[in-house]
Amino acid sequence: MTSGDYALSGSEKEGLYKAIFSRRDVRSHFVSTEIPGDVLLRILNAAHHAPSVGFSQPWNFILIKDKATRQKVKESFARERERSISMLDSDKQRQQQYSSLKLEGIMESAVNVCVTYDPARFGPFVLGRTSIEETGVYSVCCAIQNLWLAARAEGVGVGWVSILANEDLEKILAIPPHVKPIAYLCLGYVSEFASRPDLEKARWLPRMDLSEVVCYEQWGIRQSDQWPEFCAAINKMSGGKREDNI
Ligand SMILES: Cc1cc2nc3c(=O)[nH]c(=O)nc-3n(C[C@H](O)[C@H](O)[C@H](O)COP(=O)(O)O)c2cc1C
Repeated sequence: MTSGDYALSGSEKEGLYKAIFSRRDVRSHFVSTEIPGDVLLRILNAAHHAPSVGFSQPWNFILIKDKATRQKVKESFARERERSISMLDSDKQRQQQYSSLKLEGIMESAVNVCVTYDPARFGPFVLGRTSIEETGVYSVCCAIQNLWLAARAEGVGVGWVSILANEDLEKILAIPPHVKPIAYLCLGYVSEFASRPDLEKARWLPRMDLSEVVCYEQWGIRQSDQWPEFCAAINKMSGGKREDNI
């Protein structure tokens, strides 16, 4: 065996990276087309094949079509949004900018999916979760990312709505006390996948350079003689910021 023997083929890699780089959080471009059952099944099955601590598979997916249920979730969103807006009272410009952002597509999307975490699944002893409790939730987030990428591959947009009160979700969706809602997702076909994140376009925050988030050997070390070619390559890549395209 040589290195690279298990690499995907050129076009397979292209597909994977295309899904990763063109995935977007979608709130405003949903169209009314239903998602066929086989497509939704593939997306959820991809989520279900995520890595999980101790193979505990601690997720559940609550599929929500009912408009009355969604309306209740939307009301929770509206309350939490107001609360967020009041947190920006001391920064009127930021407050105004926040108020102008579309931050959910609960009613417009084809289906909503609440992804939950069940810490009791195959427990209480879960291999690998004995030192870092949060690994259970991390596993659910891995499933969510699989879902997000599979959806992109299928042409389905996903928007994550976290401006919600978990207590509201627990009540509305009859979630048992030991289970924790992790993500409330809006799924649907879209009229476009934007080329850049909405928050980047709205100049809420810029995308950081990769070089700003990579350290060598220890926290905070940004240049290293041990990594000469890699440092040169990453710095070259970081020159590729395209503010002019916004
Ligand atoms: C944990 C999590 C919670 C999020 N919550 C919201 C939200 O409540 N409303 C929203 O509009 N976007 C939400 N997003 C989407 C982010 O704003 C988005 O991922 C980010 O701006 C980058 O854009 P992109 O996903 O299109 O690349 C959330 C994303 C994550 C990972």
